[in-house]
Amino acid sequence: MVIISPSLLAADFGCLYDEVAKVENAGAQWLHLDVMDGHFVPNLTFGPDIIRQIRRKSKLFFDAHLMIEQPEKLLPMFFNCGIDQITIHFEATQNVQQALSVIKNHNLKCGLSIKPQTPTEVLKPYLNMIDNVLIMTVEPGFGGQKFMTDQLVKIRQATEMIGDLPITLEVDGGININTGKECVKCGANVLVAGSAVFKSENPVTTVKELIKLGELK
Ligand code: DX5
Ligand code: ZN
Repeated sequence: MVIISPSLLAADFGCLYDEVAKVENAGAQWLHLDVMDGHFVPNLTFGPDIIRQIRRKSKLFFDAHLMIEQPEKLLPMFFNCGIDQITIHFEATQNVQQALSVIKNHNLKCGLSIKPQTPTEVLKPYLNMIDNVLIMTVEPGFGGQKFMTDQLVKIRQATEMIGDLPITLEVDGGININTGKECVKCGANVLVAGSAVFKSENPVTTVKELIKLGELK
C-alpha cells in the first residue's frame, strides 16, 4: 500500500477547508503540513494556529514537516494543535535524540528527515525511536521544484536500512505519477505531492492515480 500525503503548501490558501476536503474525499490518507521558519529554509509558511483550525474540519492523519532551526525550542507550540506526526530535520539541531524523545513523550509519532546532500547513514542511530523517515528529493524550502533523480539511491539505501522495522519511508519534492513510480519501486511507501495534486486540473483523479502506484509493490 502507498500512502498519499498531499502538501498543503500548494493549495489555494484562500479556501483551505475546501482544498483539504477535496483531497480527503479523493482518498488521500495523510495531509502534509510544511512549517518553515525563514532560517532553516529561506521561506515562511504557517504555524500551529492554522493547523488547529484545519484540524476542526478534517480527519486526515496530520503529517507535519518542520523545517525549523532548533526545533526543540518551538516544539511545545505544536503539541496541541491536532498534529499526528512531527518530522524534524537531522540538519536542524545538535540534539536530534532529545527532540525526538520530546515528541514521543507527547504521544505523537516522530520522524527524521534528511536534505539531499545528507547521507542516509546518519539515520541509523535513530531507527529504534522513529516512526517515519523522510527523504527530501528537492532542496527544502519551496514547492514546484524538479525531482532530484540522484536521490533514488538514498531511497533504496533507506529501504534496506529500515528492513522489517515499523517505519514508513516518505519522499518529498517534485513527486508526480512518474517520479512517484520510481520512488515506490525503490521502496518508498509515503508520497508527498504538492503541485502535482493541488495544481492539477483534476486533483481527485491525480490522488487516485498516485494511490494506484501502491499496486506496483
Ligand atoms: C518543500 C516541501 C514540500 C513541498 C513539495 O520544502 O517540503 O513538501 O510542498 O511540493 P511539490 O510536490 O510541489 O514539490
Ligand atoms: Zn514537506
